[in-house]
Amino acid sequence: MAHTVPDALKTRLTEHNQTHVLRWWDDLSSEQRTALTSQLDAIDFNTLEACLTAKSADESDTPAAKAQRATPPTEIVRLPNTAAELKAYQAAEASGHELLRAGRVGVVLVAGGQGTRLGFPHPKGMFPVGPVSRSTLFQILAEQVLARSRDAGVTIPFYIMTSEATHAETVEFWESQQYFGLDPNAVKFFQQGTMPAVDAESQRLLLAEPHRLCTSPDGHGGMLAALEKNGCLDDMRQRGVDRLFYHQVDNPTVKVCDPAFLGFHELRGSELSSKVVPKRSAAEKMGVVVAVDGVTQIIEYSDLPTDVAARTTSDGELELWCGSIAVHVFSRDFLERLIGSDAALPFHLAHKKVPHIDADGHPVEPETPNAIKFERFIFDALPHAKTALVMEADRAREFNPVKNAEGQDSPATARTAITRIGKEWLQAAGQEVPESAEIEIGPLFALDAEQLQERFASKSEFANRTYFG
Ligand code: UD1
Ligand code: MG
Repeated sequence: MAHTVPDALKTRLTEHNQTHVLRWWDDLSSEQRTALTSQLDAIDFNTLEACLTAKSADESDTPAAKAQRATPPTEIVRLPNTAAELKAYQAAEASGHELLRAGRVGVVLVAGGQGTRLGFPHPKGMFPVGPVSRSTLFQILAEQVLARSRDAGVTIPFYIMTSEATHAETVEFWESQQYFGLDPNAVKFFQQGTMPAVDAESQRLLLAEPHRLCTSPDGHGGMLAALEKNGCLDDMRQRGVDRLFYHQVDNPTVKVCDPAFLGFHELRGSELSSKVVPKRSAAEKMGVVVAVDGVTQIIEYSDLPTDVAARTTSDGELELWCGSIAVHVFSRDFLERLIGSDAALPFHLAHKKVPHIDADGHPVEPETPNAIKFERFIFDALPHAKTALVMEADRAREFNPVKNAEGQDSPATARTAITRIGKEWLQAAGQEVPESAEIEIGPLFALDAEQLQERFASKSEFANRTYFG
């Protein structure tokens, strides 16, 4: 490693007014110089500057302007009510089971977030959420994949996205838990990229240490590049996997590989499908699935003006009611097309508090947002899909996320939901359920009410149990 700053790097930094990051160069060890150089080499300053100065040439194209024109999506597969809807639902279910049995389905889990809101100092997937078993989110999700694999008689590959912050601890945890019974060859951890944070005023890079920039995960939209870079797409091709069930780490009641959802995706020729539930209130922090000028897309809650979020129909319902639960099905060739095209996902800018060192090398802990972070959202792929399907999910059964330490969408509400669902299934199977007991049906015991019923049809030894796993 050269002792002087490489010429090309110096020129780039000078051009972009970022030479301050070399302030301590002379004091750095050769390893530290290499580390800083490789961080800087990875930055595309032109893109960064374009994002920061992006004044949409077309005023009608800003998120706020688009939100004003947003309407509910034109076509939504609602929860089945009529006989005809039920028939369509069952046909979709059958088609989904067929895809699963043919080994064409893989699962992608995004688990790179830092879970700041929950205040849990580990990857969120390690959070013990099971009301009786204290199973972690990772275990509940992994066991769903295992149960679906067994039902379908195939190995469903599981691709888990981590970030710099969550990778090592996540991999170590899965190893210590023997992959929750999954075939280790079919579980692939792939790490997403990072983006540098910049000072909100000067737009200059922030340093965490003299040899290290402040960075953050590049958003779950980083999944596209990360899947490609880490050989996951190749792995899918080799396995003959061409449909991907996508979900987030925070929802223990997600129906992983829901056959009906996979089936509707297939039967309707969709490239990207999304599940929605009615938003609880205008202010609920959910992205909304909408149509803008006839194109289906998701507007993130942070981009949705409050007055638009609050619009109601003549019967008093929220007009933009389709809250995204961040559960999708992707066709592999659609992802491949996106990776190969220049229609890259845009960056969203967020003002955040980012600890850093100042010009004298002293640590700064900001009390108000001081920096800009850059994130891509995978759902910005939606407008690029030739056909997109929107399907309603049963909120009480399928969407009980762990987001906050207390109150709504907390461990307490998720545990209550798991118990409630377990009781419903037990009662449907004709079992007595003690009123006050906490109940948990593990995925390996039953994935739904019908499977639970079959379990009980042959056995009676489950009396007085609270955990079925
Ligand atoms: C997210 C959605 C929101 C949706 C809601 C449903 C985004 C931007 N917003 O909001 O539209 O209605 O869930 O629950 O997704 N993650 C990464 N890498 C990152 C950032 C996030 O893997 O760089 C993962 C997290 O680990 C998590 C998921 O993405 O599994 C969502 O992240 P988070 O920002 O916590 O979601 P919300 O803000 O609640
Ligand atoms: Mg977020």
